[in-house]
Amino acid sequence: MDRLQKVIAESGFTSRRKAEELIVSGKVKVNGEVVTKLGTKVSKNDTVTINGTKLEQQGKEYYLFYKPRGVICSTSDDKGRKTVIDYFNNNTRLYPVGRLDYDASGILIITNDGDFANLIMHPKNEIEKTYIVKLEGIIDGLAIKKLKSGIRIDNQICYPSKVKLRKKDLKTKTSIVEIIIHEGKNHQVKKMFDKVGYKVLKLKREVIGFLTLKGVNVGEYRRITPHEIKKIYLLAQKKD
Ligand code: URA
Repeated sequence: MDRLQKVIAESGFTSRRKAEELIVSGKVKVNGEVVTKLGTKVSKNDTVTINGTKLEQQGKEYYLFYKPRGVICSTSDDKGRKTVIDYFNNNTRLYPVGRLDYDASGILIITNDGDFANLIMHPKNEIEKTYIVKLEGIIDGLAIKKLKSGIRIDNQICYPSKVKLRKKDLKTKTSIVEIIIHEGKNHQVKKMFDKVGYKVLKLKREVIGFLTLKGVNVGEYRRITPHEIKKIYLLAQKKD
């Protein structure tokens, strides 16, 4: 059972605020009866009509997508570039959870469930995201120490991160570094490395919580199972 205004908003009919206005002004019926009380609970079996039009309740969908580089992480693009949603053939108003840069690749959750998206993104839930970056230069211990202790970018302090040097290539003067954070500030990883003096040449997100790209090829997706959804909610609750 969900609140009526939430069901209306999630159907894509209108925003939650507008849905509340429609309810209060007597435009919404549940099973033929006008309902004006905000917060009335309805289920999938209830028939909701707005100004006489039947609301199609959409089921919630959850996908784990392997975003390729050169694809925009958005539902549309004014420059006509390919978006992550172009990979999905359905009309249930899917959108990506959080950002992954145009030139970045890796794991991305795609859903039509706003509550789930917030759960994944909100730093208080501490859902960890693991990134692998290729850096220009050989990263030194001091830079790693600074990243670990929590640095300031764009005048905001970042939570401490977990950082590990995976590989260094003295010939090409590049380093491969793993960094784990649980926030999603704009271009956060690139800015964090920039702050300690290193340019990110390549960026890939490998893990969100316990979800990995195992078995998913680049440009492909799989459904996230109900069991995995439940596990993510449990993971988030532990941090409450
Ligand atoms: N941090 C970045 O800099 N870019 C991303 O795409 C994700 C995290």
